[in-house]
Amino acid sequence: MTQEDTIDAIMRVMNRAFDPYWREAWNRRQVSDSFALPTTHALLIDAEGNIARQPADAVGFVMSRLVLDEEELLLVAIAPEYRGRQLGKRLIEYSATAARDRGATQMFLEMRANNPAERIYRAAGFARIGMRKDYYRTADGQKLDAITFGRKLTN
Ligand SMILES: CC(C)(COP(=O)(O)OP(=O)(O)OC[C@H]1O[C@@H](n2cnc3c(N)ncnc32)[C@H](O)[C@@H]1OP(=O)(O)O)[C@@H](O)C(=O)NCCC(=O)NCCS
Repeated sequence: MTQEDTIDAIMRVMNRAFDPYWREAWNRRQVSDSFALPTTHALLIDAEGNIARQPADAVGFVMSRLVLDEEELLLVAIAPEYRGRQLGKRLIEYSATAARDRGATQMFLEMRANNPAERIYRAAGFARIGMRKDYYRTADGQKLDAITFGRKLTN
């Protein structure tokens, strides 16, 4: 799969997975710019919960970036009709394993304060480690705190 194929698959899910109100989705330019850095990684998942090998099979994606020994989870999304089947949780596990294989000792992520995805992060072993007041702004100008979650990857 070429990088363009991967970006196509990511954008197909991205464009349907995020509610524009929260302004969390990235556009194609942001995604492709992030892959200009060799430290950015992505994984695609298929409907059976395996790593997708063909872009057309992808129903979800995760993007992350390794900085020193910390992997930052940038975005995770599952297409709406495939949610609630543990695919998101599995994708985060695949990402954590890949990060550990690259030498990361911890993983962290930042999310808007009221994102229901918090539950999935807690289920995946993340704990709250910090908060940035009024970090995000919604489409109608409402300010939201950013919550930072972290998880150790070493045993
Ligand atoms: C967040 C997201 C990736 C979860 O995907 P999913 O495949 O439906 O999640 P899973 O089926 O793996 O759920 C794992 C756990 O989290 C819980 N969970 C997942 N999404 C949830 C939600 N929106 N609200 C409440 N609980 C949720 C599930 O109940 C499940 O709990 P359990 O293990 O106790 O049963 C998906 O809802 C999504 O794409 N959301 C839009 C994009 C987004 O907000 N991404 C996160 C910020 S980058």
